[in-house]
Amino acid sequence: MKKIILTILSLLIATISFSQNNTPRTILSLEDNWKFINRDVEGAENPELTTANWEIVSVPHDWAIKGPFDKTIDAQKVRVEQDLEEEARLRTGRTGALPHIGVGWYRKIFEVPEFEKGKKVLLTFDGAMSDAHVWINGEKVGNHPYGYAYFYFDITDYLKEDEENLLAVRLENLPFSSRWYPGAGIYRKVQVIVKDEVNFKHWGTFITTPFVSEEMAQVNIKTEVNGENVKLVTEIKDADGNIVATCSSEKMFGNKIEQNIGVPNPKIWSLEEPNLYFATMKLYQGNELKDEQTIRFGIRTVEYERGKGLVLNGKVTKFKGVCLHHDLGPLGAAVNRAALKRQLTILKDMGCNAIRSAHNMPSIEQVELCDEMGILMLAESFDEWAKPKVKNGYNRWFDEWAEKDVMNLVRATRNHPSIVMWSAGNEVPDQWGNEGVKRAKWLQDIFHREDHTRPVTVGMDQVANTMKNGFGAIFDIPGLNYRLHLYDEAYDVFPQGFILGSETASTVSSRGIYKFPVEKYKHKTYDDFQSSSYDLEACRWSNVPDEDFVWQDDYDWVIGEFVWTGFDYLGEPTPYNEAWPARSSYFGICDLAGLPKDRFYLYRSRWNTDDETLHILPHWNLPDRQAGWENRKGEITPVFVYTNYNSAELFVNGKSQGIQTKTKEKTKQHRYRLMWIDVKYEPGTLKVVAFDDDGNPVAEKEVHTAGKPHHLKLEADRSEIEADGKDLSYITVSVVDKDGNLCPTADNQLNFDVSGAGKFKVVCNGDATSLEMFHKPTMKAFSGKLVVTVQSLEEAGEIELKVNGKGLKTETIKIQATKM
Ligand code: GAL
Repeated sequence: MKKIILTILSLLIATISFSQNNTPRTILSLEDNWKFINRDVEGAENPELTTANWEIVSVPHDWAIKGPFDKTIDAQKVRVEQDLEEEARLRTGRTGALPHIGVGWYRKIFEVPEFEKGKKVLLTFDGAMSDAHVWINGEKVGNHPYGYAYFYFDITDYLKEDEENLLAVRLENLPFSSRWYPGAGIYRKVQVIVKDEVNFKHWGTFITTPFVSEEMAQVNIKTEVNGENVKLVTEIKDADGNIVATCSSEKMFGNKIEQNIGVPNPKIWSLEEPNLYFATMKLYQGNELKDEQTIRFGIRTVEYERGKGLVLNGKVTKFKGVCLHHDLGPLGAAVNRAALKRQLTILKDMGCNAIRSAHNMPSIEQVELCDEMGILMLAESFDEWAKPKVKNGYNRWFDEWAEKDVMNLVRATRNHPSIVMWSAGNEVPDQWGNEGVKRAKWLQDIFHREDHTRPVTVGMDQVANTMKNGFGAIFDIPGLNYRLHLYDEAYDVFPQGFILGSETASTVSSRGIYKFPVEKYKHKTYDDFQSSSYDLEACRWSNVPDEDFVWQDDYDWVIGEFVWTGFDYLGEPTPYNEAWPARSSYFGICDLAGLPKDRFYLYRSRWNTDDETLHILPHWNLPDRQAGWENRKGEITPVFVYTNYNSAELFVNGKSQGIQTKTKEKTKQHRYRLMWIDVKYEPGTLKVVAFDDDGNPVAEKEVHTAGKPHHLKLEADRSEIEADGKDLSYITVSVVDKDGNLCPTADNQLNFDVSGAGKFKVVCNGDATSLEMFHKPTMKAFSGKLVVTVQSLEEAGEIELKVNGKGLKTETIKIQATKM
């Protein structure tokens, strides 16, 4: 009953907020009270069918994330050419070992307020995984196969006036259709847009800023409309709602209207100050207001220059980027704005300035957040074209759907200032053969046709070949995935005048795990299925971070990098592809729970030029059961320090281990890390004192050998969240000794209880081999930590999270949920 009232209320709110402004558009978000079943049901689109036994769910929804993990799900016996494999092997956790394969049906009853003749109604999906078939009131409306695509249908003719309508959606995920966990279900938002039949075409408006100076910006608006003899009145408002320019036009060219509007003294969108503007556009026929839309945009210039790369607002800007998969770790693929914002906040603190949406269309929420937070976006489209990587991948749809999918990507997102480049694909096998070269040109032309302002790239792994066959010369920006040894030659051969590291540094590590001896390895594996956090282990085709740093620092024509990856993701547990229970990646700079690994500080020390970084590794707690450190006393135990300072002195229990200074004279690691290779382990205190360039001590840090687990420390990323039923607070739980030192090897089983104005959502410890489920309120700590996610309800009040574990005092943290 409560749910029904809430739905009616939110429906009313949507309607009221629009009718108050007297605007002729209503947008309904279809969020709550969906019915769902995780199997195929004959005639499930039929309104007569009863759904009493179906589950009630909210959208965004991921039907597979609650597991359980199962090694047989989508186990793929394949030889992966990209991974340089010579024979087929059984990959167990490749797609996350979560039950995403199969059919899911969703049904939702909705009413269209004030629906009458002369209205136009659209049903929009930001993404549905996958192969969506859609019915309204039992009649088939259409289908859209690609799980990452944005799509919509005109459902006007299928609706009933003043009555309830039934939306039914059938989705199906086949085995062998992905290289990572794709999620399952309606995992992005669904909306119904009700407007007059005289209206702005959906995604038909393109706002650009072709001329920008300190005194004046030219805002160019091109919009497609349905209807004749109309007048367009536009008001440009700044972020405070002040009207800064207006324009009225009646001239139409076919179905298009164009306006050029001068904005005096524009506030520029930049990484430091992501200023935004709003274009409120009203469409009149005679004196009647027929449609209204408000589009947010930014005033900024984006150019690419030979030998320099991206020039943003006149300033050369290297990409300090990371690749991100779309899953949100324990939340699965279901989009959540707070979860996305947390990721971007962590990355921004690292000094990261760009995201590559690997290897598909980003969620609209992520693009909006990048606009708001001043982060650049490389929006990608496909992992496959016509030639398969996986049997049932996008290759099945490419010929029929690629043009439509690219058009939808560009049209839906081209007004976002954060997007500064498109990607037509990632390591597509079509890099081989003449057909692939033609496809490359064809796709890039579609991007250019839909958006003349941004360049197009492709992440290439077959670089030696694409230098020969013309493929690499086609794209505006040649993107190289790894293959540092070919950068020089590619720069020489390719005509564009620069190289982008579209994917770099597939380094693997497990948070808080250290292995000995400390050496550089390729594809190193251990019995516990973890990788060492000394950050010296990479994939066969890849390298450790420092090797990219050298190219980024020494060559202006290397225009930036996108590290694989910012966060660990579900699936692709390289180097443990065949090792059950490995089920999520080891590539992340942060783990699956979002906790920074040591590597975070290596990137931060270079990328974040405003704040101090001084980080010591390893932890100093021996013996460490996991790493087999039982007898390490007196053993060589290298100490690394990741810092923005160039030199530092290390002390073990007060004894100096000497001063280390970054240098170009030795290995690439010596240029970026301070390393004391010969330190002998003895329990106690590890202390580092950093020096400025004049040799003055300016900062210090200590790591202590911790005693036994004693109590818990709870820290929330946000202690006040919105009481909207969606917002999240992430609470890091650390097992500490009696003095508050992190117990870095603790694996206590912890239990969670949430009361008050919130609920327990998920928990994650970042262990890629854990089979504990995220939605259950108990989990082991991993390397002394885990992260509990708490979600608000729709009522304001206090949320209380209690955490306990055997032998540990129960700890409590309070979060405030407020109506904002
Ligand atoms: C790349 C690929 C990514 C990921 C990565 C792992 O070749 O583009 O999707 O598989 O390797 O190192």
